[in-house]
Formats: sequence, structure tokens, C-alpha cells
Amino acid sequence: MKQIPAPVLTLVIGVVVTLVSIWAGYNHHMLPDQASASAPLVDDFFNVMVMIGTALFLMVEGAIVFSMIQFRRRKGDETDGLPIEGNLPLEAFWTAIPAVICIALGVYSVYVFQEMGGFAPGSNAHHHGTLMAQAPQEVVTDVGSQMLAEGQPLEAKLPVYGFGASPEEEGNAADLEVNVTGLQFAWVFNYPKEGITDGELHIPVGRDVQLNITAQDVIHSFWVPQFRLKQDAIPGAPTELRFVATKPGTYPIVCTELCGAYHGAMRTQVIVHTEEDFAHWRESRTAKDPSAAAETVAVNPSDRTDADYLHAYSQGTGLELSPQLVSHLAHEAH
Ligand code: CUA
Repeated sequence: MKQIPAPVLTLVIGVVVTLVSIWAGYNHHMLPDQASASAPLVDDFFNVMVMIGTALFLMVEGAIVFSMIQFRRRKGDETDGLPIEGNLPLEAFWTAIPAVICIALGVYSVYVFQEMGGFAPGSNAHHHGTLMAQAPQEVVTDVGSQMLAEGQPLEAKLPVYGFGASPEEEGNAADLEVNVTGLQFAWVFNYPKEGITDGELHIPVGRDVQLNITAQDVIHSFWVPQFRLKQDAIPGAPTELRFVATKPGTYPIVCTELCGAYHGAMRTQVIVHTEEDFAHWRESRTAKDPSAAAETVAVNPSDRTDADYLHAYSQGTGLELSPQLVSHLAHEAH
């Protein structure tokens, strides 16, 4: 090693560390599929952090391992080490670098947040009261909600938190709006324009989708890992997620806020359809609903138990009505 000049050695190490770090940033395979337009933004940011982390790891661990070998105690050497204490320039240097990295990452993260619409929740020009908290009865049937909504019309509120329109889409209405309600322990998706209620989220690929999120009971959190999107569902405080899905497929929806005993089971899925498939799904669901509503009118619910009554409406919605949920809904209804 003596024959290689220090500047050359430093340069070579610097180049190798940089190349390895960049490679690691793009080949870490730690993230799931990218299925929304937000995902590349988030992942690029994450990849930069992996690169910086890899470079720091290699330099710090490299220096430790090098020192362990180079400066180890030689056989027969019983002397003390050199009394070295402090090095102001060096300390200033290794304090300044992390400070610069943190500030740069902070600025970058704000940029990503802005691109995702994080500064514009509630910016959708065309809210007209669809954003009200939904009574759980809407989960079950529109007829039920009509009967029960007479009591107290819920106030429409604009979301303060969440991801609204991105800078390019600000001022435009989303292509599809879905009201999302989290409740112990299920997600319920209501399509106000289409009059569809489902236990799974169906959306078309490549379209601007807006989720108006609320919670029935406690705080839940709506998370689709493949979309890189996560938003709390808060009782009484509507939140919003606006995004474009970019890859057809079926992805998990996970509740990621501890919300009670069955929090871990509060999962469903989002199905990203092609445009054609989505139209087909919508047709199949809207064609089914009027007959179901007519049936509801013909039946006197008091003849049945709560569970029987509710069971009929959960058919075909993909809603898993647990006994707890049924009794909860029934209690709310009376
Ligand atoms: Cu809902 Cu955890």
C-alpha cells in the first residue's frame, strides 16, 4: 500500500463507494410493485436514502475494519497508544456533512409531498356535500340510509389532511370519487354517483381517483403499499387521498392504525381494472342494485332478526359481516 499515493487511493475508494452505493440504491428490492403515479416519486426518494445509507455504511464500517487490521496490537508491543484527543476540523467536517444531507433530504421530501398533492387537500373544486360522514346504514342499503338519514343531516366538511390534487390537476374534478369509511373492523366503499356500495375498492387504471375518507368509530388508517399511499381515517375529520393507479391488478388494503382487537384482520383489497373491465363491473353492480332496493321495500324488517336482515344486503358486496359488526350496525340502526 505504501507505493500508492494517498490522494489516488482516496479517489479510487471514493469512486468505488459511489458506484456501489448507486447500484445498491437501484437494486435493493425492498419495495413492492409500483402501482400508482405516486409510487415512483416516493421510491426515488427512498432510493436516494438507500444510496446515502450505503455510502455511509461502507465508509464507517470500512474505516473500522481497516483500523482494526492496520492499527492492531503487534506481538510483544506493550506500549500505550498515542494520546490523541479531539480534532476540531475533523469534527466540524463530520457534523457539517450530516447536516447538509438532512437539509437536502428535507427539501426533497417537501417536493415529493407537493407533487403528490399533500399541500392541497380539499382543493377539488367540485365538492357538493358528498363528503359527509356516512352513517353505517349506507353500508347496508340505500333505502336504509334514506330512512335513517332523516334524523340528522351530517355536515359536509372539506378535508384538511391528506393528498389532494397534484399541482397539474389542481382545480379539476377527479374522474371518480369514492367515499371510504373505516369501522371496526372493515372498510366500506361507497360510490355516490353510481350508487354502489362495496367491501372492496374497484377503480379504473390511469384515472384520477379521489377517496373521501372518514371513520365510524375510532381512528383507522388506509394503506395500499403498492400505491405508496397511506392516510388516517378520523371520526369527524374527513381526509382525502387523490391518486392515479398505473398498473391493473389486485392489491391489499391494510388498516395500519391499531384500532381494536381485530385490527390485524381489517384488510380488504383494491382491484385496479382496465377501463373496459371497470365499466363492466360498474354495470354489473348498478344493474343489481335497483332490484335489491325494491326487495327491501317489500320486506318488513321487523319480521327478521338483525343478522338475517343485514345478511341479505351483504350478499355480493364482498362485505364480511362478522357477528360483532352486525350487532354494532343493528345497534346504530335502532
Ligand atoms: Cu382499523 Cu386498525
